[in-house]
Amino acid sequence: MTDNDTILSLRGIAKTFGEKVALKRVDLDVRRGEVHVICGENGAGKSTLMNILAGIHQPSAGEIVLNGEPVRIPDPIAASAHGIGMVHQHFTLVPSMTVAENLFLGRQPRRLGLFSDRAAMVDRARELSLRYNFGLDPNAPVGQLSVGQRQRVEILKALAFDAKLLILDEPTAVLTPPEVDELLQVIDGLRARGRTILFITHKLREVKSVSDRVTVIRHGESISTHRTADVSEADIARDMVGRDVFLVGRKGDGAARSFGAPVLKLDRVSMTNSHGRLLLDAISFDVRAGEVMGIAGVDGNGQTELSEAIAGLMAIQGGAIELCGRDVTRASVAERQEAGLGFIPEDRLDRGLGVTMSVAENVAATNYSRAGILRHGFVDRGRLDAFAASKIKEFDVRGAQASTPVGWLSGGNMQKVVIARELERDPALLVVCQPTRGLDIGASEFVHERILAAADRGHAVLLISSELSEIFALSDRIGVMYSGRLMRVLDRAVADEATVGTLMNGGEAVAA
Ligand SMILES: Nc1ncnc2c1ncn2[C@@H]1O[C@H](COP(=O)(O)OP(=O)(O)O)[C@@H](O)[C@H]1O
Ligand SMILES: [Mg+2]
Repeated sequence: MTDNDTILSLRGIAKTFGEKVALKRVDLDVRRGEVHVICGENGAGKSTLMNILAGIHQPSAGEIVLNGEPVRIPDPIAASAHGIGMVHQHFTLVPSMTVAENLFLGRQPRRLGLFSDRAAMVDRARELSLRYNFGLDPNAPVGQLSVGQRQRVEILKALAFDAKLLILDEPTAVLTPPEVDELLQVIDGLRARGRTILFITHKLREVKSVSDRVTVIRHGESISTHRTADVSEADIARDMVGRDVFLVGRKGDGAARSFGAPVLKLDRVSMTNSHGRLLLDAISFDVRAGEVMGIAGVDGNGQTELSEAIAGLMAIQGGAIELCGRDVTRASVAERQEAGLGFIPEDRLDRGLGVTMSVAENVAATNYSRAGILRHGFVDRGRLDAFAASKIKEFDVRGAQASTPVGWLSGGNMQKVVIARELERDPALLVVCQPTRGLDIGASEFVHERILAAADRGHAVLLISSELSEIFALSDRIGVMYSGRLMRVLDRAVADEATVGTLMNGGEAVAA
């Protein structure tokens, strides 16, 4: 089977942790010089498989063939000796140390002799950064770098030890869209220099844009390997989930959509922080009944402040907010909820859920009177549990019973609990922030369907997301925020990703 073009072959790799079967059987061939994406839902076994290659775990069964030879990889040092480098999902850098120090930390290149030769170390770091066009300052403390720059340090660290096979475990999960694009270019450049790359992701757009081939892993088994050019996103999604997936999108669905009256109106809303810095700069727009208004932007450009100003969690210093015809500029959170606000915040653990409370208590919070749970002013336990059970079923909250503490659920299932609760209140306006961040495809699909269904039932939806694909898939109009300003609002029908991307970076769009 193995020939010169194959750098790595895995045959029947299995891994159990005690009772838990993480990998049942994985077969995989990786060709020299290709970008090979491994995709699969959360928990499919991707990281376990990569950790086996990186010498962190030992397989329970199966064979690893590297450059035609069966090998054992007992520890990470053996992995680097075999030319395998891994960039983990969670960074391993020391923030107080410089880029150069981190690159050679604990593994001084023999050629340099001891670490005492600092200048040589810095030179080597500079040379590496230049060679791969990473633009890193070797003397910069890592703690001062952006997430994207830190990731490049991690990649360079693997390359510094001459990794021929580079493993990137969900590298884009922590990146903003422009950083993702930069990373994809970095990967292109590495391929051009003959490196082989195993790239883990569950984002279909990334699969399509960067890989030569793609292998899907589901429940610990390799399901399929395709040439990326030969396979559609829907095919990959089906292999990942194990059934047909409806990739939600309004794009090109042709239906003429009509909207009702404005439900939310912002008029020159401004917010400053305690140092007088402008966080929101005279923002005006409205959202109509039945409409999804998407707000795109790189994280940290005022979107969070905007959502909290609308929800009443942060005060504004100028302008006015109107909800269902009522001036709520100075209204409390509870008053806004009464006026028709549903709010799904970004930090669901801090603001969205009581993690120590049960699923039932969380789903029912703010819904007691509506759901008929109160009797003579007291909570009727039986009704509460029945209500929760119906929501658990409807929203497919996996592994939950009414009494399960919400903190025990996975991120995707917690998200479903928040959405179930907010939709149950039947809000005229639903403000949704980063709704699928950290979710896998199955759960994202569900969340997207619910958002669109809410709009179709006549709710106004304000969708705040830094995932451009999500904004484009769901929105009727798209507003772009940059540096506290609403740069422009575009109709979905005429908006394209290039224009929105330019606006997200503060640039003026050419097209109107
Ligand atoms: N050290 C471990 N001990 C027990 N179970 C583990 C361990 N590492 C991973 N698992 C389990 O193995 C399965 C696969 O996990 P993982 O490889 O992290 O998936 P992925 O990276 O595809 O999300 C999960 O069910 C996970 O809980
Ligand atoms: Mg993983």
